[in-house]
Amino acid sequence: MTTTTVEAVGLGKRYKDTAALDGFDLAAESGTVLGLLGPNGAGKTTTVRILTTLLRFDTGRAAVAGFDVAKDARQVRRRIGLTGQQTAIDDLLTARQNLVLFGKLFRLNKSRARERAEELLGQFGLTEAADRQAKGFSGGMKRRLDLAASMILAPQVLFLDEPTTGLDPAGRREVWDAVSGLAADGTTVVLTTHYLDEADRLCDRIAVIDHGRNLVDDTPAGLKRRMGADRLEIVAADPADLPALERVVAAVAEGDVVADEAGPSVSAPVKDPVAALTAAATALQDQKIAAADIGLRRPTLDEAFLELIGGTDQKEAQQ
Ligand SMILES: Nc1ncnc2c1ncn2[C@@H]1O[C@H](COP(=O)(O)OP(=O)(O)OP(=O)(O)O)[C@@H](O)[C@H]1O
Ligand SMILES: [Mg+2]
Repeated sequence: MTTTTVEAVGLGKRYKDTAALDGFDLAAESGTVLGLLGPNGAGKTTTVRILTTLLRFDTGRAAVAGFDVAKDARQVRRRIGLTGQQTAIDDLLTARQNLVLFGKLFRLNKSRARERAEELLGQFGLTEAADRQAKGFSGGMKRRLDLAASMILAPQVLFLDEPTTGLDPAGRREVWDAVSGLAADGTTVVLTTHYLDEADRLCDRIAVIDHGRNLVDDTPAGLKRRMGADRLEIVAADPADLPALERVVAAVAEGDVVADEAGPSVSAPVKDPVAALTAAATALQDQKIAAADIGLRRPTLDEAFLELIGGTDQKEAQQ
């Protein structure tokens, strides 16, 4: 049975003349990963700070792990972990010392703090590095140690504010694996990110936020699906063939045909992808036009995101 572990309804938060949140809704089922995706200043950190009881809000209501964030802040705090936009670890301490210190901060006794540190070092793949100072760690290792520190009390809900910003691909992958592992063990994770590939990879659902308002809430696949049709793309073997390719693609397109001289390629959205591909390939053969490549591709989340954000900007411009 699934239960809603994180729920916010109609959250509003103003900073003087800025509406950081303007009636924002959010829901995460237990044991799932919810991605909060949006550009700079969208309201992601504000949402995380409210849900982790660090910031008061003006309107709406929010509950985490069954407790009201405003009325039962203490109960909420006992059940959550938070990794902020900045890491909280001490560079001069070793990985083990950092975790023991955090354990003590969370009021574990000495032996329990040591025991918990050992468990977390193992869980986050840091056992071998346990006795090295954190200042010599790679970005990915630091982030993992930071994640481990926010897991001292094995929280029911973990909030991560941009967990992989600034990491290289290997570091991001390490953090992704750690987050996936936590969710598989039943932790509900709410994470903010700017990276669509990250949301695509990690999240069960993605809430897209901009200007403090909900744009979309959907699964990664649903988000891509609603963003439009598959695209047919033909790469020309000879740039001189571009106009002819444009005509071939236009005959099967369901929208604007885009010619890219740098490709050199031509692409367009198509409704029935397989029929369109077959028809285009036949036309190429009939007209003896050589293609370097022909294929179908799904819109990427980046394209989906830009279209969503662009859509609101246009609406605002019209108002
Ligand atoms: N302490 C504050 N005082 C005044 N305005 C603030 C404060 N904190 C945030 N804001 C404003 O509220 C809005 C939302 O900020 P928030 O930090 O939640 O965005 P974000 O989505 O986390 O952005 P980023 O991707 O840059 O981290 C922004 O317009 C920001 O300038
Ligand atoms: Mg932020």
